[in-house]
Amino acid sequence: MDALEITGGTALRGTVKVSGAKNAALPLLAVSLMGADKLTLENLPALADTNSMIELLEHHGLTVARNDETVSFSGSATNFDAPYELVAKMRASILVLGPLLARYGEARVSLPGGCAIGTRPVDLHVKAMQKLGATVELADGYIQARAPKGLTGARIVFPFVSVGATENAMMAAALARGTTELVQAAREPEIIDLATCLNAMGAKITGHGTDIITIEGVDALHSTNHQVLPDRIEAGSFAIGAAMTCGHLRLETIVPEHLESLFDVMRDAGASIKTGADWAEISASNRLQAVDIETRPYPGFATDLQAQYMAMMCLADGSSVISETIFENRFMHVPELARMGANIIVDGRSAVVKGREALKPAPVMATDLRASISLVLAALTIDGVSRVNRIYHLDRGYSRLEQKLGACGAKLQRIQT
Ligand code: UD1
Repeated sequence: MDALEITGGTALRGTVKVSGAKNAALPLLAVSLMGADKLTLENLPALADTNSMIELLEHHGLTVARNDETVSFSGSATNFDAPYELVAKMRASILVLGPLLARYGEARVSLPGGCAIGTRPVDLHVKAMQKLGATVELADGYIQARAPKGLTGARIVFPFVSVGATENAMMAAALARGTTELVQAAREPEIIDLATCLNAMGAKITGHGTDIITIEGVDALHSTNHQVLPDRIEAGSFAIGAAMTCGHLRLETIVPEHLESLFDVMRDAGASIKTGADWAEISASNRLQAVDIETRPYPGFATDLQAQYMAMMCLADGSSVISETIFENRFMHVPELARMGANIIVDGRSAVVKGREALKPAPVMATDLRASISLVLAALTIDGVSRVNRIYHLDRGYSRLEQKLGACGAKLQRIQT
């Protein structure tokens, strides 16, 4: 298994071109099952997760043509089964449920099962499909859904915000008969990107970016070229790295307003942040101050930046309270940060972090993607050599991480353990 050996203590300085967003790319890839012609996605990040999704689409029968970060999909699905072996690799495979059901009237998708950051059920996805008229059976670990006469528009009220269920429902409703209203819909930028792509293919979606999305079903979708939006979580991770190491990074090809909730707290903590149309410059010259955060659906503080933020607070002056309201059990980075000397006490869904002046080198291991990057960021601040094990998690969500960090002065190398 690969590990990263990191010799920390050097400030990150330089320019990073941020890649396309993983969380926008995954539903956009599922859209390729919905069109009659061809879908071309540009700025598609090269990641283990996007590769897994492409593998699933090929399994469904689509033809894929790939040229670096531009990938085209054509043909029709001939197989409506998303098997356990492919879904188990990546939960977001559940996003093929809505597209397959809407376009072909049937889908059999393995239940994703448990996950390192909590139980993460898919009941809202299933209920949304039922509301749209599908018959759904859960048997042998599979969601077996049918709508032989097509789906019908409906009013779907989500009990709480779910990004994935909003996406699945929006895709399914795009090809349903009649009008669908999604109430308490997710407002994440990735939802807007998905709606923009679907509308360019002929869908009739309005209200995306608010908590009520209206979808008037159409008979068919046509070809389009779509540019995947920049990854706000990758950008946020680098921004935190710049501040933690008292460095200076310029992030390019980003949408700064997608990072407002992070930038606001980072400014409160003492970081300097300048933004332009599609860039931001982040620096810090002194130790940061402790500032509390609570994760929330967008536009609140992203749960996907909580671990990285906690790593930053481990070095801040004072104590901060970090509350995780989206996922249960999303503090697996805590014992690993503690191995590096961090002082963190977890109480239910909150963690109290008492900042130290420095952390110390240690071998650490993470069990999910964002926990892994938080350990890398912590290691970058530490004088001495730390080893972050099991970095296959990082390959799921950070495109060319070592090259990007290395170009900004980080000393790190991938080793086989
Ligand atoms: C997406 C992101 C993930 C991010 C999360 C929250 C992708 C591919 N992944 O995940 O990186 O951390 O949004 O911003 O875009 N829930 C249910 N039943 C359901 C669905 C969700 O109870 O059917 C719960 C989840 O367990 C969680 C909460 O709802 O507690 C929010 O999850 P959701 O927004 O659905 O996350 P994902 O779409 O899986």
